[in-house]
Amino acid sequence: EEDIAVEGSLRPQNLTEYIGQEKVKKNLRVFIEAAKMRGEALDHVLLYGPPGLGKTTLAGIIANEMDSNLKITSGPAIEKPGEIAAVLNGLSDGDVLFIDEIHRLNRQVEEVLYPAMEDFSIDIMIGKGASAKSIRLDLPHFTLVGATTRAGMLTAPLRDRFGVVNRLEFYTDEELKVIVERSAELLGVKIDEAGAMELGKRSRGTPRLANRLLKRVRDFAQVRYDGMITYEVAQTALDLLEVDSMGLDATDRNLLETMIEKFMGRPVGLDTLAAAIGEDSGTIEDVYEPFLIQRGLIKRTPRGRALTVLAYEHLGYPVPEEVF
Ligand code: ADE
Repeated sequence: EEDIAVEGSLRPQNLTEYIGQEKVKKNLRVFIEAAKMRGEALDHVLLYGPPGLGKTTLAGIIANEMDSNLKITSGPAIEKPGEIAAVLNGLSDGDVLFIDEIHRLNRQVEEVLYPAMEDFSIDIMIGKGASAKSIRLDLPHFTLVGATTRAGMLTAPLRDRFGVVNRLEFYTDEELKVIVERSAELLGVKIDEAGAMELGKRSRGTPRLANRLLKRVRDFAQVRYDGMITYEVAQTALDLLEVDSMGLDATDRNLLETMIEKFMGRPVGLDTLAAAIGEDSGTIEDVYEPFLIQRGLIKRTPRGRALTVLAYEHLGYPVPEEVF
């Protein structure tokens, strides 16, 4: 057992240690146990949802629970069919291949994956022109774990080849509090319940952010206080980090304030909004918008994104009668 906190050691190693995502865990437990009983590789798994909710962590846990090895790559890292062929050919029976941002694979690479996922084989072209021949190469029985922030951007043939499809949800404040307490224990930092709850509440439903904020608040507790994270320490430190009471950061607030001041809270297109705040529209769609929608601060309408009454109230603006 590792007793020194090293980078990455905050990641849970098995399903029991993993907090939250109860439906996903419940399903995976059954599928993993069944595959193990049959002595087979687990069916391919697609995980989708906003960043930082534990997709990579879950891939590691799946490999661990299956007593197999994890290989990690990503959509943008694989540029050519030959590269994915080499990755697949290097796997062993039962290995878990994790492909992050799988929606960013190009078409030719994706086409190598279809027979690989379905029949554990790939067709390789030998030679050129009239003498070109295709030969079939058998692959080990592996499990592909694909992760994406946007399930809607997967092609149908790829999506259809995953036997298990799970959407990760934002964590509750309470779940994040427990994650913060567990991480604090692993980091060897003292924290009280109110301190952990405050971090949980201000972490945008996202464990990766909760752990990052915990480390920054720990620094603050160490330098300005006696090392213990209390409610007061957490509150003061998070205010200084410009994370507000709902967990909104400067970009979230800028987005909402721009919608109020430039668009009067009326529906606005994603690209127009992106240009107005100088953010990439994909980042708004993947990172900022899902949380703001989940917390009821913005809503999708047929004519674009619109503000809610709650957004005006949270930012301390008067609610305009003519809009609502
Ligand atoms: N660290 C990051 N995500 C976690 C989770 N879901 N459970 C426990 N620890 C975590």
